[in-house]
Formats: sequence, C-alpha cells, structure tokens
Amino acid sequence: MTMTITIASEQPDHIDAIRAVNDAAFGQSEESRLIDALRDDNGLTPSLLALNDDQVVGHIAFSPGIINTDSGDVPAISLSCMAVLPDCQKRGVGSLMVREGLRQVTDAGHRIVFVLGHPTYYPRFGFQRASTFGIRWEHECPDEAFMIMELQPGALTGVSGTVRYHKAFDMFV
Ligand SMILES: CC(C)(COP(=O)(O)OP(=O)(O)OC[C@H]1O[C@@H](n2cnc3c(N)ncnc32)[C@H](O)[C@@H]1OP(=O)(O)O)[C@@H](O)C(=O)NCCC(=O)NCCS
Repeated sequence: MTMTITIASEQPDHIDAIRAVNDAAFGQSEESRLIDALRDDNGLTPSLLALNDDQVVGHIAFSPGIINTDSGDVPAISLSCMAVLPDCQKRGVGSLMVREGLRQVTDAGHRIVFVLGHPTYYPRFGFQRASTFGIRWEHECPDEAFMIMELQPGALTGVSGTVRYHKAFDMFV
C-alpha cells in the first residue's frame, strides 16, 4: 500500500478514529482513556494526526508538565502518547509525527520536552536519558526509558529535579 501522509491538527470529528488507532496500536483502551481525560482538561497541546488520504493512521499528543527543582518549578511539555496503526508501522509515520510535533511545540515557545518510552526509538530525535541531567520521573520506571530534550539551547542548564505530568495522568499510574 502506498501512503501519502499529511499531518493535521485534531478536529472534533477525528476523536473516534484517534481512539481506534490507539486501541489498535496498544491492544488495550487505557491510552485512549488517558487521551480523553487530557482532552477533557484542555491538556492536549497539541494533538496531531497522520492522515493517509482521509484515513487516520497515526496519532501523537503532547501535554503540559513541570519539573520541580530546588529553585522552583520549570515548565516543560511531555510527548504523552503516540500510536500508529499496526499495518502502517515501520514506514516512517511515527517519525513524521514526532518531528512535526517537536516543531510545533518549539514554535509555541516550549523549551523542554520529556517522554517515557522506547529507549531505542526516541534518541534518534535528540532525546537523552533524563537521569544524566539529574532529572527523574516522580514514579519508578526503567532509567533508560525516561528521556528529555532541550528545545532551546541551554534550557536544561542548571535544571535538575522531579518531573510531574499533567494531573490527568494520576488516575493511570
Ligand atoms: C512506536 C510507534 C508509534 C512507531 O511508529 P512507526 O510509524 O512504526 O515509526 P517509524 O516508522 O518512524 O520508526 C520505526 C522504528 O520504530 C521502532 N519501534 C517500534 N516499536 C518499538 C518498540 N516497541 N521498541 C523499540 N523500537 C520500536 C522500530 O523498530 C523502527 O526502528 P528502525 O527505524 O530502527 O527500524 C509504533 O510502533 C506504535 O504505534 N507502537 C505501538 C504503540 C507504542 O508503543 N507507542 C509508543 C509508546 S512510547
């Protein structure tokens, strides 16, 4: 199947398709419920789709978070969830969504982005282990899976502490 992928912002009539993509990719509905909870709390900033013609084949969403440091809270954005339909994986759709998402959050003025995810996937976009900056997630996770990246040079200089996700995550951890 030839794909011509365009990236678009989520619209209300995409919500069912976003659930379907996430449920198919993860094989469960927990991620869809998290996305719905974030949306209900204005916590999807942004939520982007990969469209092949008019079909939603991928989804990526960011949400606001903070890094608690000894000298106060530092704002950061999380790459919160990402999914591609199983039949469309390993063909670059995920990478297109990550790069466009990072471009948009950078343009929106965000300076730091973090992700909890596959440690062999996200470094290709510039993510590094958060622990090398003295930054940790507030919950237990494999050290190599919690990653962070500067969107502005120097944004992590002197920043160390504990990352907290949007409160919608609380019911899922
Ligand atoms: C992860 C995901 C979004 C990537 O989308 P994609 O369109 O296949 O991504 P790309 O085509 O840009 O890149 C494919 C790469 O991702 C890697 N990848 C996919 N799943 C992976 C996993 N579970 N662990 C490590 N790497 C993985 C592939 O091995 C491939 O690596 P390569 O380029 O070195 O061959 C997709 O595989 C997916 O939906 N997976 C299930 C849901 C999920 O795990 N979401 C991410 C949560 S952190």
